[in-house]
Amino acid sequence: MISVGTALLSLTTGSLAVPVVSEPSTTFSTAPAVTPPVRPHTNVTEHGPYTGPPPTTTGALTTDVLAPSIAALPPGPDAFKYPSDGKLHAPLPAPYTPSGGLGTNGSVPVYRMLTDFDYESVALALYQEWIELDLFHWGLATFSVEDFEEAGLTAEDRFLIEHMANQEVGHATLLSNMLGAEAPVQCSYNYPVSNVREYIDFCQKLTRYGEAGVYGFLPHLNARDVAQLLLQSITTEARQQLIFRQFEGLFPMPEWFEVGIPQSWAWTLLAPYISSCPANQTRLVWQNFPALHILNQPNPARINGSNVWNETTGGYTNTLSTADIKEDESCLNSTEVGVNCSPGISRNRTNPLSYPGRQVFLQWDEPGQPIGPNNSYITNTTANPPMFAAWVSQLNVTYTPLEEIKDNSAWTVQPNMETFAGDPAVNGTIFLVLTDLDLYVTPFNLTMLNPHVYAVGMYQSG
Ligand SMILES: *[C@@H]1O[C@H](CO)[C@@H](O)[C@H](O)[C@H]1NC(C)=O
Ligand SMILES: *[C@@H]1O[C@H](CO)[C@@H](O)[C@H](O)[C@H]1NC(C)=O
Ligand SMILES: *[C@@H]1O[C@H](CO)[C@@H](O)[C@H](O)[C@H]1NC(C)=O
Ligand SMILES: *[C@@H]1O[C@H](CO)[C@@H](O)[C@H](O)[C@H]1NC(C)=O
Ligand SMILES: *[C@@H]1O[C@H](CO)[C@@H](O)[C@H](O)[C@H]1NC(C)=O
Ligand SMILES: *[C@@H]1O[C@H](CO)[C@@H](O)[C@H](O)[C@H]1NC(C)=O
Ligand SMILES: *[C@@H]1O[C@H](CO)[C@@H](O)[C@H](O)[C@H]1NC(C)=O
Ligand SMILES: *[C@@H]1O[C@H](CO)[C@@H](O)[C@H](O)[C@H]1NC(C)=O
Ligand SMILES: *[C@@H]1O[C@H](CO)[C@@H](O)[C@H](O)[C@H]1NC(C)=O
Ligand SMILES: *[C@@H]1O[C@H](CO)[C@@H](O)[C@H](O)[C@H]1NC(C)=O
Ligand SMILES: *[C@@H]1O[C@H](CO)[C@@H](O)[C@H](O)[C@H]1NC(C)=O
Ligand SMILES: *[C@@H]1O[C@H](CO)[C@@H](O)[C@H](O)[C@H]1NC(C)=O
Repeated sequence: MISVGTALLSLTTGSLAVPVVSEPSTTFSTAPAVTPPVRPHTNVTEHGPYTGPPPTTTGALTTDVLAPSIAALPPGPDAFKYPSDGKLHAPLPAPYTPSGGLGTNGSVPVYRMLTDFDYESVALALYQEWIELDLFHWGLATFSVEDFEEAGLTAEDRFLIEHMANQEVGHATLLSNMLGAEAPVQCSYNYPVSNVREYIDFCQKLTRYGEAGVYGFLPHLNARDVAQLLLQSITTEARQQLIFRQFEGLFPMPEWFEVGIPQSWAWTLLAPYISSCPANQTRLVWQNFPALHILNQPNPARINGSNVWNETTGGYTNTLSTADIKEDESCLNSTEVGVNCSPGISRNRTNPLSYPGRQVFLQWDEPGQPIGPNNSYITNTTANPPMFAAWVSQLNVTYTPLEEIKDNSAWTVQPNMETFAGDPAVNGTIFLVLTDLDLYVTPFNLTMLNPHVYAVGMYQSG
């Protein structure tokens, strides 16, 4: 019998000869090709805050420092040279091959770091992959089947979380292989969650800064070959973020563009949840900013998620707490469209989590606090006391002034702006940082803001 697929194939290849076909057999098997081993890893058994002795090494990795900040310069000499008119402007190096591009001259890719920038960035991404591997396993091991079912997550959903953990094994292996022998290894961790709902919200926010942290540096890497592989890992991570939003009953992707952030913001948001690392762990160069606490952080587990006060489990990620939600305030078990926030492919919310013009109350920590693995990093800022809130989402950084600044607290107003017409810029899981200056920055030079950043947090705007 000739299958339809075979008939089509012989037509499209224009062959007149009748191919030899037979019923495909399912009994053949081929020996698997050589499979590269994964990086050794274990299920971390200890969790919780660091209680060991004071660290012997403190502070970020550093060496000679040439200047307090990078000076702004005009565009590069060739920035406006290319006419961008749809015509070809140079001979083709080969048929169908336009001239230009990076890593396109035939030199063999070697997938190695080329600079400190590359190493430190990819090492940061590796710290992130390791925490995800542990976090996904930890949740499955910590909460019971009943706990998951109560939050609307089935055996199939739990298998998906387990699968995500396995993906992390692959990502950690890939990045470790590219970094070499001193690649950072697994640590032990401390998660600010006490039930499944809080856990899913934490996973959702953690994968968001993991994703955004890589987007922020990916185009700046010297090693384009490394960037290629990292890109192909981080797009998987982006899918995880979206799935955790679905598990949380949030609209899966309200934004039109995914945001990127500087490495130091990603490290700032990650480090508080690492309790300790092995003695010879490779350290990182990145800054730890003080925490921003969003006092009325929208709570996705509430029917009216914007009607909240002090309902997070801490600063930095500002993940949700369910502690004060009464039965009739929870959106979890509702069957009403617009109220129901049980896991789903897509959910509408009649009461938005946030809206332009919303008054947002903020509190921030002072620098100089020990944080991260073995409490061995110290929070720092080089900014003057904060004057602005910077809303960092999609392609935009928008500043709103801080009002009624008193000690370490103030309020500000959620801005009203669209990235492009029809796309409210502030939506989804975004970054909110306090600054002493409303410096104009765009996605490719966002890091220039760092000398002016006082505190870093995440805002659940939708
Ligand atoms: C080809 O490009 C690489 C960078 O991707 C560069 O290091 C190398 O020198 C180039 N080789 C030639 C022959 O131009
Ligand atoms: C880690 O725990 C998960 C379940 O939570 C289990 O499926 C997996 O096999 C464990 N991995 C190792 C390396 O022990
Ligand atoms: C939701 O329903 C499940 C199953 O009926 C129940 O176990 C759980 O306690 C309910 N949760 C809330 C917040 O009402
Ligand atoms: C830490 O020690 C282990 C075991 O001796 C070694 O395999 C690893 O390369 C060391 N890591 C660093 C960063 O030196
Ligand atoms: C961090 O603490 C752990 C547990 O107390 C210890 O084994 C490890 O050596 C410490 N790491 C460093 C870098 O001091
Ligand atoms: C939701 O809470 C806000 C306060 O944050 C309030 O203004 C609004 O009226 C509430 N909406 C409903 C439907 O209760
Ligand atoms: C928020 O709650 C925590 C503990 O639940 C408390 O220590 C803190 O003072 C509260 N902050 C404000 C501003 O209400
Ligand atoms: C969901 O929300 C959108 C936008 O607010 C609205 O157009 C649509 O009708 C809503 N769908 C349902 C089923 O509520
Ligand atoms: C965010 O996007 C969702 C889905 O399009 C929409 O229903 C909601 O109103 C938006 N929220 C804000 C603050 O713009
Ligand atoms: C922050 O870092 C700068 C530059 O390294 C240093 O001069 C300052 O003392 C640090 N501040 C705190 C509070 O640690
Ligand atoms: C937001 O970003 C877009 C795209 O870069 C830009 O055109 C727009 O002016 C920005 N909007 C604001 C309010 O900064
Ligand atoms: C960042 O880039 C934008 C152009 O995209 C430029 O207008 C702005 O001045 C730059 N900011 C800094 C601090 O260099």
